[in-house]
Amino acid sequence: MAPSAMPDGVGVAHLPNQRHKIVSKRGANFTLMVCGESGTGKSTFVNTLFTTTIKNPKELAKRHAKQVDKTVEIEITKAELEEKNFKVKLTIIDTPGFGDYVNNRDSWMPIVEFLDDQHESFMAQEQQPTRAGMIDLRVHACLYFIRPNGHTLKPLDIEIMKHLGSRVNLIPVIAKADTLTPNDLAKFKRNILEVIDAQSIRVYSCPIESEDEATTNKNQDIMSALPFSVIGSTEDVTTADNRQVKGRQYSWGCAEVENENHCDFKKLRTLLIRSHMHDLISTTEDIHYENYRQMQMETRKFGEAKAKKYENPKFKEQEEKLRLAFTEQVKTEENRFRQWEAQLVSERDRLNKDLEEQHAKIKAMETELENVYQMQGRSNMRR
Ligand code: GTP
Repeated sequence: MAPSAMPDGVGVAHLPNQRHKIVSKRGANFTLMVCGESGTGKSTFVNTLFTTTIKNPKELAKRHAKQVDKTVEIEITKAELEEKNFKVKLTIIDTPGFGDYVNNRDSWMPIVEFLDDQHESFMAQEQQPTRAGMIDLRVHACLYFIRPNGHTLKPLDIEIMKHLGSRVNLIPVIAKADTLTPNDLAKFKRNILEVIDAQSIRVYSCPIESEDEATTNKNQDIMSALPFSVIGSTEDVTTADNRQVKGRQYSWGCAEVENENHCDFKKLRTLLIRSHMHDLISTTEDIHYENYRQMQMETRKFGEAKAKKYENPKFKEQEEKLRLAFTEQVKTEENRFRQWEAQLVSERDRLNKDLEEQHAKIKAMETELENVYQMQGRSNMRR
């Protein structure tokens, strides 16, 4: 991604406000995961966030015509952002959308397994004598896209969010905020927060208190927007008052990505790449990784391999296919064997019949021969 292609930058240069002296030299490694139902605008959001095409979104029309594949497996995209000499090595983890399978219950398992695997891999690398060149794909923030149905979280959302929240900094996001009226959106947010609270779903909460009041107020303002409503678009549109903005054009006007009256995109962007990137990275290390390490230490002997908690549904499907193919093959072989057995039986019967006929023939010949002898005996006596 060319930094010059970004007119105003995306704001990573603000990151030094957090811990400039420590991280500015080597830059930051930031891993962001997006998950949620298929078609909720995850790829579009990533591109909007970084004002460039990191992911290729799929057009709805093609999607409905089933011409375009959805994200069907975990996709890792790497990009490097640089602003004012400050570098962020960005890793985006796109996950397969839920809600497409007959059995949706299992669709989130590979994602949870992926999160655990990254902790596991880091833990294994840490135990090596040399730690240079360690590969670290531990996820620092996971955006969970909620379909804008206007009611509340679905049971599947609750189940997935519970699993994610216990492993990663989970940030709930209301997708396609432009499809809800402001009143419906406000009500939807309240309902979601109530469920999050009632179900004890752990979501990321940034530190609010700061040394200066302005930052404290800003942090408060950001957190009060949770769950963040977003509009994703990389298109430039013209507003009624002739401004060129990123947004979605409708016959009644346009839904603006960066307009705080339309959605919380700006607040979420500030949280992710301006004010709290460092907090997201350090809480991943200090809380989520430590939790994982501690849990594994308590339940595993030293050097023992990690037990697979979940069966990968893809493998299960393959296993089922193999099982069916095997049963089918056994059936065919059985049939073939039966046919062969029947053939043998009929061959045996035919041979038996032949044998009986031969016996009968021999018997007849013997009788005939006996008759000849007898006749010869009688004529000799007469002489
Ligand atoms: P999967 O990879 O299948 O999980 O899809 P996705 O969640 O990445 O969705 P994607 O970004 O491909 O967007 C799907 C469709 O929704 C595209 O046609 C986008 O233009 C559209 N879309 C994305 N964001 C928004 C939004 O904020 N509002 C509206 N109205 N449409 C959106």
